[in-house]
Amino acid sequence: MALCFVRLIMIVLGVESSCDETGIALYDTERGLLAHALHSQVAMHEEYGGVVPELASRDHIRRAIPLLEKVLADAALDRDAIDAIAYTQGPGLAGALLVGASIACGIGLAIDKPVLGVHHLEGHLLSPLLANQPPEFPFVALLVSGGHTQLMRVDGVGRYELLGETVDDAAGEAFDKSAKLLGLGYPGGPAISRLAEFGDPTVYKLPRPMLHSKDLNFSFSGLKTAVLTAVKNHRTNICDQDKANLARAFVDAIVDVLTAKCLTALKQTGLKRLVIAGGVGANRQLRESLNAAAAKKRFQVFYPELEFCTDNGAMIAFAGAMRLAVNPNAAQRDYAFNIKPRWPLDELKAA
Ligand code: KG4
Ligand code: ZN
Repeated sequence: MALCFVRLIMIVLGVESSCDETGIALYDTERGLLAHALHSQVAMHEEYGGVVPELASRDHIRRAIPLLEKVLADAALDRDAIDAIAYTQGPGLAGALLVGASIACGIGLAIDKPVLGVHHLEGHLLSPLLANQPPEFPFVALLVSGGHTQLMRVDGVGRYELLGETVDDAAGEAFDKSAKLLGLGYPGGPAISRLAEFGDPTVYKLPRPMLHSKDLNFSFSGLKTAVLTAVKNHRTNICDQDKANLARAFVDAIVDVLTAKCLTALKQTGLKRLVIAGGVGANRQLRESLNAAAAKKRFQVFYPELEFCTDNGAMIAFAGAMRLAVNPNAAQRDYAFNIKPRWPLDELKAA
């Protein structure tokens, strides 16, 4: 979607490097997304069973400039056409963030254009607005990624109220850790979701942590422990069908909890629009459950395009453009970057 309510016409370069994906994109406030390119480091980290921060940083260095050249070529633009550069300032892995920040500031200095640091989760949160039929404000947002599980009330850019969050593991983390226990690869979310399709839902019954707590908080570490206990209870190696049964029980439990808490958040706020963002938002079973609930309870549910659920540069370019629409001075020719590996989203201000 083009940012038609923005009077400022500009092209924003987005640089994402907070974890294991290098994402670069060009967003035009008049014409919409011009080009985006991504390099995933999954294959590199797979043999270690998780992200190795030092390897991640080094790979971002290798990938960023070739990806920049690709998006410029795809958009048929010269680098001087870029008006501002948005980069992920945090939260994320310190070394990986430093690479993106220094590359963004280096480009800014080279072409004499201003830069602005963007909050990674704000990128996720606003990513459904890149879709063809974007939601209007206000809405309830469920942010479900590898590091975060939060319910927010969103009244506009930078107007975020935290309604509830996980007290321990994030939903994506629970997917990844449980997948590891089942001997599936990294990242575990897509693998466990695919395997669950073949599982019998009646064989295992896993707990639904905090399902009936009156608040909007989550807890997923007990679920992972329940998977561990079920795996250990097998004296011999767990067979493929049983792995699928366990995967199914795990997915059913996590989807039930996420769906129920979203419904409570909608009820508490009186809002009728729900936005799902972050990597776990790509999950098929979660989408089916939320779509069914939306049809039954008469609310609207919005998702980012599948390719923009997980980390990408487009959401950072877009969030940067939104920030600039609210405050054109948000980008500065101050190239002394400072990253924020830990940065709560509700610390952000509207402008
Ligand atoms: O948003 P994201 O790309 O990175 C963070 O900001 O953390 O989310 C990555 C997380 C991983 O935990 C991954 O396993 C999970 O999203 N994920 C999924 C699916 N695709 C990615 N979880 C469940 N089902 C999926 N289809
Ligand atoms: Zn992310």
